[in-house]
Amino acid sequence: MNTLTIALSKGRILTETMPLLTGAGIELCDDPDSSRKLILETRDALVKVVIIRATDVPTYVQYGAADMGVAGKDVLMEHGGEGLYEVLDLKLAPCRLMVAGKKGDRRRNKRLTVASKYANITRDYFTARGIKAEIIKLYGSMELAPLVGLSDLIVDLVDTGNTLKANGLEPQELIADITSRLIVNKAAMKMKHAQIQQLIDRLAGAVNRN
Ligand code: ATP
Ligand code: PRP
Repeated sequence: MNTLTIALSKGRILTETMPLLTGAGIELCDDPDSSRKLILETRDALVKVVIIRATDVPTYVQYGAADMGVAGKDVLMEHGGEGLYEVLDLKLAPCRLMVAGKKGDRRRNKRLTVASKYANITRDYFTARGIKAEIIKLYGSMELAPLVGLSDLIVDLVDTGNTLKANGLEPQELIADITSRLIVNKAAMKMKHAQIQQLIDRLAGAVNRN
């Protein structure tokens, strides 16, 4: 039997994924909220969990440093999906990836500037619509950009809409509905097929009971 490494990110993904992992029979030995360890053991000696930044999860899985991982569809779209399979919709952390701008400002006739941490998705979205847009890459607090004149629009996640509203912005166009997905390294899927398929099936059962 082989070791299986699962990549998760702290925060929302970890909190929401934990009950599914438990439902699939995987229990962590340490409390991930208080532990400073980056590699967490589970009660199953063959299964380990690595804790990394959400945006790094597809990279670890792509290169096989982790066999499997949980990442938002937003992060997967931005990454491009090379070297990995998206095998299961975990239906966690639902939200929408949207174009947003200042309330009432719907001008699209000049050269646009769009701020986002999703530079690839944003470029592809506007290019596909024949709109010339200058993309400004940010790493957080996108909602600030239109308020201080850094950009006309933003591309960001919207859940309740409270963050947009609190900053005088409004959602304008839907790019994609987002949930968290289980991903698997392509080579690992071949080499460790029986073990990985068994875990996918157990997680699928936990999703259906959720
Ligand atoms: P990083 O540290 O890499 O920048 P992050 O701070 O964006 O990541 P989280 O905020 O924990 O990490 O988000 C992880 C995932 O959870 C996102 O990729 C997205 O799929 C989902 N998500 C983010 N914000 C929301 C939200 N407000 N409501 C629901 N799901 C969300
Ligand atoms: C996310 C996203 C938005 C906000 C949307 O940020 O980047 O800012 O949630 O949620 P809402 O529509 O319910 O207001 P998050 O809370 O993850 O903060 P962070 O990106 O700074 O980590």
